Amino acid sequence: MSDVPQTNSANGAKSPEWRKIGSFVSLKKRICQHVYAETGKKNDLALFYNEGKFYAMEAWCSHMGGPLYLGDLEDYGGSCHVMCPWHSYMFDLTTGKNEIGLRQDVFQVKVESGDVYILHAAALSLNRYEGRSYSRTDSANMTRKDPCLAVQEPKLPEV
Ligand code: FES
Repeated sequence: MSDVPQTNSANGAKSPEWRKIGSFVSLKKRICQHVYAETGKKNDLALFYNEGKFYAMEAWCSHMGGPLYLGDLEDYGGSCHVMCPWHSYMFDLTTGKNEIGLRQDVFQVKVESGDVYILHAAALSLNRYEGRSYSRTDSANMTRKDPCLAVQEPKLPEV
């Protein structure tokens, strides 16, 4: 699998590829996190983990750009939604839709051989890309108390 996006010769658009994000064991420890796109902020994603399943959607809220990777997950109308931390609009993790007609693009996620992959046209990483400029909003998850830790690993007694 290449990290270099392929170019569709017909229209110049990049074709989506499965992008390895990290190990299932590591990623399932957080219910939400920021995934950086090599192609720039507009392509960043939010990765969510809920009840044994991963979901990926655009990182920035379609209302006014709030960071959805800092949102809380809620059961809303029978399906899991992320609540935007800025104005509390809810987005369905599966469809990206919300009740007033806003919409986030969502992306397929798979787990294969112990690793988590997202189908996306750009290279993706949990770490920032060198050479890409970052705003204060990009750092929001570093200055706020981390709301996304799903489960603390139990400490095993020393023997
Ligand atoms: S920016 Fe997300 S609800 Fe306003």
